[in-house]
This record gives sequence, structure tokens and C-alpha cells, in this order.
Amino acid sequence: MTESQSEVVMEIKELGISYITKQGKVRAAEDVSFKIHYGEFVGLSGESGCGKTTTALAVMHLLPKEGIIEGGEIFFKGRNILEYTDDEVLEYLWRDVSMIFQGAMNALNPVHKVIDQMTTAIRIHEDVSEEEAMERSLELIDSVGIDVSRADGYPHEMSGGMKQRLMIALALVCHPALVIADEPTTALDVMVQAQILELLNQLRERTSLSLLLITHDLSVIAETCDNAIIMYAGRIAEMGTTKKIFSEPEHPYTMKLISSFPSVLTEKGIDFIPGNPPDLINPPSGCRYHERCDYVIDRCRHEVPPLEDEQGHRVACWRRHDI
Ligand SMILES: Nc1ncnc2c1ncn2[C@@H]1O[C@H](COP(=O)(O)OP(=O)(O)O)[C@@H](O)[C@H]1O
Ligand SMILES: [Mg+2]
Repeated sequence: MTESQSEVVMEIKELGISYITKQGKVRAAEDVSFKIHYGEFVGLSGESGCGKTTTALAVMHLLPKEGIIEGGEIFFKGRNILEYTDDEVLEYLWRDVSMIFQGAMNALNPVHKVIDQMTTAIRIHEDVSEEEAMERSLELIDSVGIDVSRADGYPHEMSGGMKQRLMIALALVCHPALVIADEPTTALDVMVQAQILELLNQLRERTSLSLLLITHDLSVIAETCDNAIIMYAGRIAEMGTTKKIFSEPEHPYTMKLISSFPSVLTEKGIDFIPGNPPDLINPPSGCRYHERCDYVIDRCRHEVPPLEDEQGHRVACWRRHDI
């Protein structure tokens, strides 16, 4: 990832997370490290089950009880949030970092008017009057492109696209420095997807917001993010500027992912990746991708390739320079 002069808002260091299940320990994230700077949009991608949501939930202190942090640190503005007290976590959530959840459109509370949910969120975190909270909510609703006259409605009166806009407004309500959006466009039709991406692009022009955008859809990242991180089976396979990742991917998995999304760059047609991501209870030895890789050599089966940095472009592949 490009090391810019700007300040780091979030730094994840060697994060490891497992889920304890009856079948065994699911190693959902291992040795995950990356930084997000102020104002930066970072895309996190990879097939379903590779640990994207798990990483986000750890940043939000919202892992389910079977989710265990095995190691590592998560720094927000220089402080390790994993050491926060319960009170500090309450203060941190939504005010410092907020999250738009996967399938979030259904997360709006159906029995409350949307405007009331927003003013309540503001007043939980800040000592402001009802009027001020209302004014700020209406401003935000307007800024996500919804007619303020609709603000007085209930969630069921809104279309899917409106609800998703409102979820974005709700995530911004306490002016967090970082927003995590987990598959924010996945359930939407193509037209509405485009509008939501447009909205995110407008927000980046108007604010200094940092965004961690999680999506299995690489074209979404190509359209909105400065940097991209590709995860495979709980580990980072490759990361760098979006431009580099899309024009000169160096990990065989990234190459396959890009060629399986014809809308992104290629017109060659769809190139599916054969096989499924591995079982994370017994992950493959060595490089976790080796069983599906076209370029596998013996070393890949036995030794975990380190994520090697060359001018901000990080790749975990033994064959980085000879394929
Ligand atoms: N609560 C849970 N209990 C057990 N395993 C889980 C739980 N949540 C996720 N997992 C497993 O952890 C891995 C990573 O999941 P997840 O972070 O949701 O991936 P992604 O968001 O990339 O699709 C997967 O193997 C998934 O089955
Ligand atoms: Mg997910």
C-alpha cells in the first residue's frame, strides 16, 4: 500500500481470529496487517468465506462470542482498541468507527420512523438538543440524495435503494473518521448499485471520510477505491494501489479473480476459478492457494509465502517474479 504523508487512522497488525466450533477451530483470519489513512478508500475483496466480515467485526469489537482474537493489534488513532474497556468501546462505536452491515437494508428498525432512529443515535453519543439532532439528521438525509419530506416515513415505505442510502446516512450521523461498508451494494439491482457508488464517490469529495469497502465484486473497488486488499482463505494474498492491482496483479489468485470479472477490464470472457476456497478448520499447508494454483511448485505446498513489499505493492507468492 502506498505510504502517503498523511496520517494513519487505522492500523491492523498481525491480526489472527478463530471461531471455536464443535468441528474444531475455524482459522478465519491469520496475520492480517494493513493501514488506512485519513481520507483514503480501501477495498477489501476475495471470495465468500475468506475472512472479510470477520476482520471488520473485530475492528468494530462485534465478533460473536465464539470468535476469538488469537493475536495482533488494532490501532485507532494510535490506541489499541482491543485493550479498550467496555465504556471506551461504547464511545468508540459509531462515533469513531461505524459500519454498514451486510444486508443492512433490513437493519433499520421497522417500528420507528427513520428520522427518529437518526436523532436517537446522535443523542446517545452527543449532548445536543432534540432540535439540533433533528437538523443534523435532515441535512444528512438531504446529502445522501433523499427528499427530506420522506424522512418522516417508516422503513417499509422506502425502496431498497432508499433504505441503503439511509443506512449510509445513519453510519455517518456521528461524524466517524472511518466507515466500514460490508457488501453495501450486493443486494441491490444494477441501477441502484451505480447510484450508491456515485454517492460514495461524492462523499469522498465532500468529506475527509476514510472507508473500508468490503465486497466480493472487484468492479465496485475499481470504481471507488485508492487501494485494494485481496484476501484468500483468511490471509492477505496481495495489496497495493487499485491501479496496480488491476493492471499488474502479481498473485495468481488476484489474476484469476480479475479475469473472472469481465466487467472490470478484460473482454476475454469469464474465467472461473475451479474448486472452492479451502476448509479453514484444516487449511492447506504452505500457501493456502496452492491446491487451486496453476503455477504451484513444491515449495508452495510446504512453506507459507510472506507478504513481501516492493514499493508498496505487497504479494504473498513464491513465484511472484517468475510467472
Ligand atoms: N460465527 C461463526 N462461527 C464459525 N465460523 C464462522 C463464523 N462466522 C464466520 N465463520 C467462518 O469464518 C470464515 C470467514 O468468514 P467471513 O469472515 O464471514 O468471510 P467473508 O466475509 O469473506 O465471506 C468462513 O470459513 C466462515 O464459515
Ligand atoms: Mg462477509
